[in-house]
This record gives sequence, structure tokens and C-alpha cells, in this order.
Amino acid sequence: MSLLEVEGFTKRFGGLVAVDSVDLTVGQGEIVGLIGPNGAGKSTLFSMIAGDQRPTSGRMVFAGRDVTGWPPHRAAAAGVGRTFQLMRGFPTMTVRENVRAAAHLRHRSRSAASQAADAVIGELGLDDVADRLASTLTAASRKQLEVARALATEPRILLLDEVLSGLTPTESRRSVETILGLHRRGLTIVMVEHVLEVIMGLCERVVVLHQGAKLSEGPPSAVVSDPAVVEAYLGSGRFAAEDSGTSGGGPSSGASNSTVGARGE
Ligand SMILES: Nc1ncnc2c1ncn2[C@@H]1O[C@H](COP(=O)(O)OP(=O)(O)OP(=O)(O)O)[C@@H](O)[C@H]1O
Ligand SMILES: [Mg+2]
Repeated sequence: MSLLEVEGFTKRFGGLVAVDSVDLTVGQGEIVGLIGPNGAGKSTLFSMIAGDQRPTSGRMVFAGRDVTGWPPHRAAAAGVGRTFQLMRGFPTMTVRENVRAAAHLRHRSRSAASQAADAVIGELGLDDVADRLASTLTAASRKQLEVARALATEPRILLLDEVLSGLTPTESRRSVETILGLHRRGLTIVMVEHVLEVIMGLCERVVVLHQGAKLSEGPPSAVVSDPAVVEAYLGSGRFAAEDSGTSGGGPSSGASNSTVGARGE
């Protein structure tokens, strides 16, 4: 059964069509990768699904209900959780307070919200930094806090927007383990990621966006050998040239952290 059905989602910013008639269906329990060059419309698509941006046109059904155009708090209450590319938490609050604030979506009492927050903090390995101000965290912990805040809303679908970018290979491996653990316990996940090895290793299905439109979709191995994808995204040297310090190149580069099309944050 599909949990999420997006039909013809389009977002215009003035003359720019950031997302162009995208259809996306995600089944209950699936883990789907969303890839594409910088500016392809990935984050904007997430924003429309999570209610942070209203679609210019299109329709979305979530868990059998038409939730098109719902504001973010209603989408979250319906079960859509997302992370932001840059931390959106409260910098002057501690990690625990940030996660507890998110947990209040489901738990009215302070003690119940605290308990739920502590469970998420434990699951993500944030115990050591739980009492630190969010503003003092390392890049890796900030990303984990974004995931923790989303998880604390007890989502049915989790939209992860580049939660591995800027992490060291060790931190990245740990995060991949966390994502795999969430998937194994039944959470439905859509993840945006520029490191193709991660997408290839984690995702059952990949959707490629290019200039706002869906370019390709299918099992990871089929998508990375799709000539349209190779031409638009993988094969072009200009993405490797823009790469933020890793070897870049493409899916066959063999580098442990090859990044395609990623702009440094
Ligand atoms: N609020 C906005 N106002 C105007 N233009 C926007 C806005 N948000 C995004 N855009 C534009 O829409 C296009 C898609 O942006 P989006 O952030 O969705 O891309 P992306 O695929 O997430 O890219 P990246 O990989 O760099 O994160 C880009 O051209 C971007 O400049
Ligand atoms: Mg983005």
C-alpha cells in the first residue's frame, strides 16, 4: 500500500519552475533515494510534502487522506517528518530542550515529552551532548539533532535532506547505520543524498530530479546506468569540478566518499 502519493507537484518562484509536475509514490516501509544536481528541486519537493511550501499546483495524498496545501504543523501531526539542510533547531536551547519541544507534538505533559525526547536522544547516540547548547555542536551532531527533532514528532515518513553532508567518513558510517536501523524498525524514508555509494547501499528505489522534473526512477543499479541520468547528472565533468573536496567523478570512481553534484554548505 502506498503511504505517500504526490501527483503533479509544481512549484514556481516567479519565472522559475523549481519543481515541474513531479509524481512520487512511496510505499509503506520503503526507503527511497532522491538525487539530482544542485538546484534540481529536491529540497523544494520536500518542502511541499512537509507543508513548508505550498505547491503552485498538484495534489498529495498521505495515508489515504488528501493533505494538499496543509501547513507544516498539520502535516507533521499527520505523520510527515523532515530534516532541513541547515539546522532549524533553536540554537540557544540545549539538545534535550530542542528534542523535547518537537516531542510536544505528540505529548502534552512535560514529563511524557521529556521521556520521549530522551528515548530519541538515546537512539541517535546524542546522550553525550544532550545538555549542550545546539549552537555549540559539531556539524555531525547538528545533523543528528535535525534527525532527532524530526523523529521526536513520531513520523510515519521521514524526509532526510542531506543529513550526511559535511560528515567525516566515520561519522557518515555511523549515520548510515542509524538510518538503516530506522528503516529496519519499519519507518518509511525518503533521503536526499549526493554520496552515491550511500544511496546505492541503502535505497531500494531511486528517483532522479533534473531541472525540477523527474528524469528517471527505478532500482539504484538501473538508474545509474540510465543514459539520461549519466548525461544530465553523473557523466558531466562540471559536477566533479564543483565538488567540495572529495574525489567526485561518478558512481564507479570507487572512492569511499565520492560525491556527485554537491555544493559545499
Ligand atoms: N524560496 C525560494 N525562492 C526562490 N527560488 C527558490 C526558493 N527556494 C528554492 N529556489 C530555487 O529553486 C530551485 C530548486 O532549489 P532546491 O533548493 O529545491 O534545489 P535542491 O535540489 O535541493 O539543490 P541542492 O542540492 O543545492 O540542495 C533552485 O533554482 C533554487 O534557487
Ligand atoms: Mg537541497
